[in-house]
Amino acid sequence: MFELKSVSKTFQLPNKDSLQVLQNLSLTVNKGEIFGLIGLSGAGKSTALRTFNLLEKPDSGHVYFQNKEIHGGQIDQLRLVRQKIGMIFQHFNLISNKTVEENVALPLKIAGWKPALIQARVLECLKLVHLENKNHSYPNQLSGGQKQRVAIARAIANHPDLLLADEPTSALDPITKIEILDCLTEINKKFGLTIIIATHEMNIVRRLCDRVAILDQGQIQEILPVARGEIHPQTKLGKMLLEIT
Ligand SMILES: Nc1ncnc2c1ncn2[C@@H]1O[C@H](COP(=O)(O)OP(=O)(O)OP(=O)(O)O)[C@@H](O)[C@H]1O
Ligand SMILES: [Mg+2]
Repeated sequence: MFELKSVSKTFQLPNKDSLQVLQNLSLTVNKGEIFGLIGLSGAGKSTALRTFNLLEKPDSGHVYFQNKEIHGGQIDQLRLVRQKIGMIFQHFNLISNKTVEENVALPLKIAGWKPALIQARVLECLKLVHLENKNHSYPNQLSGGQKQRVAIARAIANHPDLLLADEPTSALDPITKIEILDCLTEINKKFGLTIIIATHEMNIVRRLCDRVAILDQGQIQEILPVARGEIHPQTKLGKMLLEIT
């Protein structure tokens, strides 16, 4: 359903060196699944995640979304990507001088929704994340967990088919972390929304994911199923991550 095919990416560094961050990366994510990308810091998780919505353009290779080539062909399908892929981040990235309601409404405004429909959809999304009573608050009046739930509401407002989550719980305490993971699970179950999540932690993968790819220096070491919270890595890195996180 969503596919990276032989994707490579090299960054040019200021000292004229270059750094290959993704090396011939190929992976397929099925519709409706929660797919994890795990690896150590610098493994290329965020870069890989950002190639799905073309925030990062691969140097070579192809990106497919719903079996349509969105990168690697003649032209990039940026409009499709913007409308159909939502994203959430470690530090929430809310707009501080807009209320909760205005933050969630933003992607709908950009997509050209009618004001009356926007109002209803915003409330619906805030209800989904159990924040309907915070619609007039500003981000700095909310806890980290509440901010991330606003970010989730904003990311799903325009009915995306894919949600990208880049370490969405790294800035949260352990209890709030579980609350956010359960919120993502609920949305996945309710709407069949496909989710790709980048993380350092196997305990997140065990709680949330259907499958996980272990990434090391821009290459996939192995792709594993997660069955009833259990994972059985074969590689050294996979075993180590399982043991310590
Ligand atoms: N715009 C950029 N310019 C140059 N180098 C970059 C750029 N973005 C990322 N990198 C480098 O690419 C490598 C992979 O970065 P990336 O952010 O994808 O890793 P990550 O697995 O998400 O790490 P973390 O767990 O710390 O978030 C790192 O060495 C990083 O320094
Ligand atoms: Mg990252």
